[in-house]
Amino acid sequence: MTKVAIIGAGPSGLSLMLAFRAAQQNGDSIPDIVCFEKQEAIGGQWNFSWRTGVDPFGEPVHSSMYKHIWSNGPKECLEYPDYTFEDHFGHATPSFPPRQVITDYLCSRATKGHIDEWIRFNHVVRWVEYLPDEKTFAVSYHDLVNDHQTCEHYDYLVVATGHFSTPSIPDVEGMDDFSGSVIHAHDFRDARHYQGQRVLIVGGSYSAEDIGSQCCKFGAEQIITSSHKKLMQANRPDHWQLKPILTKLSDDTVQFQDGTTANIDSIILCTGYRHHFPFLEESLRLKTRNRLWIPNLYWGVCCHWNPQLMYLGMQDQSYSFTMFDAQAWFVRDVISGKRSLPSLEEMQRHTLLWLEKEKRLETDEEKIRFQGNYLKELIQQTNYPSIEIEAINRMLIDFMHNAHWNILGYRDKNYASVMTGNPSPSYRLKWFENMTDEQLDLNSSN
Ligand SMILES: Cc1cc2nc3c(=O)[nH]c(=O)nc-3n(C[C@H](O)[C@H](O)[C@H](O)COP(=O)(O)OP(=O)(O)OC[C@H]3O[C@@H](n4cnc5c(N)ncnc54)[C@H](O)[C@@H]3O)c2cc1C
Ligand SMILES: NC(=O)c1ccc[n+]([C@@H]2O[C@H](COP(=O)([O-])OP(=O)(O)OC[C@H]3O[C@@H](n4cnc5c(N)ncnc54)[C@H](OP(=O)(O)O)[C@@H]3O)[C@@H](O)[C@H]2O)c1
Repeated sequence: MTKVAIIGAGPSGLSLMLAFRAAQQNGDSIPDIVCFEKQEAIGGQWNFSWRTGVDPFGEPVHSSMYKHIWSNGPKECLEYPDYTFEDHFGHATPSFPPRQVITDYLCSRATKGHIDEWIRFNHVVRWVEYLPDEKTFAVSYHDLVNDHQTCEHYDYLVVATGHFSTPSIPDVEGMDDFSGSVIHAHDFRDARHYQGQRVLIVGGSYSAEDIGSQCCKFGAEQIITSSHKKLMQANRPDHWQLKPILTKLSDDTVQFQDGTTANIDSIILCTGYRHHFPFLEESLRLKTRNRLWIPNLYWGVCCHWNPQLMYLGMQDQSYSFTMFDAQAWFVRDVISGKRSLPSLEEMQRHTLLWLEKEKRLETDEEKIRFQGNYLKELIQQTNYPSIEIEAINRMLIDFMHNAHWNILGYRDKNYASVMTGNPSPSYRLKWFENMTDEQLDLNSSN
């Protein structure tokens, strides 16, 4: 019997296990599956912990999420076609839910798929080597509860460990002399800690926007976002300013590229994450930055250099849960032999084509459509339920414009589910006024 090792039971790993379960329910035979998960529960990033640094076993804390985080895109854009939010909650719910709602939805779908039997919780994969003579992977793992290390061999390895957990931390002149606190977004847990403070946020992407908004909502005295990019200025309150990149620090003073300075109490580095696979031997490691099309991965998942090795969810993400599903259905079909991989030359030619398209992308709209097209083409190749990608592209584009123009208010808009056609209701309170993440505080439908 073919043996498959999946590393990670976050949304991507869960998608693959559910893909195999769906095949089995269709009467197909499936391989032996083992999923190694270093945390005590499913959910990946969505499995929030108050901890920073290390977990109770001394392992690096995986999740970069924080208290009071809400979905940063409409939930209708990540809704599973085989399990809608209405299926889960029994009624329509607002488009931008707090973390707990998404976690509940994600984990319930997985639980209904009865995949727990495949998951070894509190098992961290320490080292994987490929044995070319045997054509197997030697997977060495650590059972954290029993403090026991073992090695097992597998025919396929699927890496679903995410890529928003190991911080990318820049060095800035004078950092050692700065008198305030400096953390990376990975260790940010609660904006209330910054109440009354002058906070510098470094970075120009989602974390910078949302952590800035959180600091604003929970009472920071002043917020400065410093970025390489020219960010949207619209509708920020006066005490939230935008500055060019940070060049120097000393004591409590920070200096920017335009020569201006500011006095700051705390710095939060929202400078992104590294694709980091210390548990894989060098020849198995994927090397990439955070981007939409990844070199050396056929259809974004299958390694050019080893047909038994796959990665899930390694792209930058406008689409998330449904993209992981589409990738998982594809990978399942490759592993089960329903789909065969072409020659190395053909895989390289195909990847190059998409890389060329990626190179030509200029606007955020184009980037969303690019990923939507990827998803559409991937779905067409398996029996995954079809999704109205064009409608979701439009929703993502609308939400993105709205977020650019109204950073503190974009979560108050609601959309209709593409799956059910039903509109989503609004909360009684606006996002900015809702300090408790009250989940079922709905205006209607309840
Ligand atoms: C702060 C933040 C907010 C986000 N908000 C949103 C949002 O609002 N909407 C959205 O769609 N997406 C959001 N995302 C993106 C998020 O990454 C995806 O939604 C999703 O969690 C990715 O799933 P994944 O399974 O690929 O990776 P992860 O969720 O990271 O899961 C990887 C799993 O692998 C396990 N693992 C890692 N290494 C090992 C090992 N060596 N051995 C065993 N197990 C291991 C981890 O414990 C983890 O459970 C957010 C990400 C961050 C960082
Ligand atoms: N639900 C939510 O509200 C929420 C909140 C936070 C994050 N997220 C998710 O988390 C994921 C990661 O987002 P992210 O923003 O952390 O990472 P990211 O999208 O990879 O962005 C990293 C940012 O850091 C900047 N940067 C890198 N090095 C820098 C340096 N030396 N100096 C200044 N800036 C630097 C980059 O700018 P350059 O490219 O110009 O270098 C980029 O703007 C995304 O999927 C996002 O959706 C969601």
